[in-house]
Amino acid sequence: MLQNKNVIITGAAGGIGLAAARRFAKEGAFVIGLDVNATACENAKNELEGAGFRCLYVPCDISSVESVDAAFAEIGKAVDRVDAIYNNASVFLDGRDGPLGDIDPAIWSKIIAINLTGTYLCTRAALPLMKKNGGSIVNTSSSAGVTGIPECAAYTATKGAMISLTRSLAVDYGKYNIRTNCIAPAAILTDMVKASNLNNPAFNNEKFLEMVTPIRRWGTPEDIAAIACWLCSDDASYLNGAIIRADGGITTNGDVNR
Ligand SMILES: NC(=O)c1ccc[n+]([C@@H]2O[C@H](COP(=O)([O-])OP(=O)(O)OC[C@H]3O[C@@H](n4cnc5c(N)ncnc54)[C@H](O)[C@@H]3O)[C@@H](O)[C@H]2O)c1
Repeated sequence: MLQNKNVIITGAAGGIGLAAARRFAKEGAFVIGLDVNATACENAKNELEGAGFRCLYVPCDISSVESVDAAFAEIGKAVDRVDAIYNNASVFLDGRDGPLGDIDPAIWSKIIAINLTGTYLCTRAALPLMKKNGGSIVNTSSSAGVTGIPECAAYTATKGAMISLTRSLAVDYGKYNIRTNCIAPAAILTDMVKASNLNNPAFNNEKFLEMVTPIRRWGTPEDIAAIACWLCSDDASYLNGAIIRADGGITTNGDVNR
């Protein structure tokens, strides 16, 4: 599906990003993984290479201009074009994010810097490498981007921004045959979702999400990786500006008691 495509994945050393790296590699892509966790980058690279896939992992803090510039200097030495970028990395700072009035300005700025500015910086750096041949940008929103989720105003603001930014990119770069789409996941069992719900007794109840999700199960990182993979493939060649709610129907469910 992705034979000979050079694909950048941010946050590629953990959670959904790592599942995507595995799936993209299996589909024939040359995976270029960026992640702030250098040890996890090393582990992911060893795992993929051990499975016989070529890849490049670069430790990178996507919120830092210098770090992103350095990573793309390395990417520029390895490839002469980029076919897709999957903007997946984000943070959810449980207990520090909250209702707007309770958020410390430094925490607000940190969340905006990683979740929003990080996508801007990486996409900006990737665009010149995508313009020649066209390609695919996949952004990551959340149920927090399409519904009101309490007590995480900064995260929610960044996830709403992913949807607006997807639309801007779709209309500005369509003429280069660069398609931009967005995945809005929810309830995917990763470290982020486990950590983000520690204080919520309802979520701590293993059965709760199974009950409120119309398809009656938690999502897996692989569920999301498969959608990202398809969005980056030529099978999605006329999809531009789409927001895909990949959440088992949670944000469609109007009655959580049934
Ligand atoms: N898990 C869910 O249920 C869920 C729900 C809605 C949205 N999402 C979104 O999906 C994406 C992936 O989430 P996840 O659950 O896999 O998260 P995760 O926390 O399990 O993994 C995130 C990865 O991003 C990396 N990362 C964090 N900060 C970074 C930075 N500054 N620079 C580079 N890399 C950085 C981490 O090291 C980690 O490997 C996020 O954008 C998240 O907001 C997830």
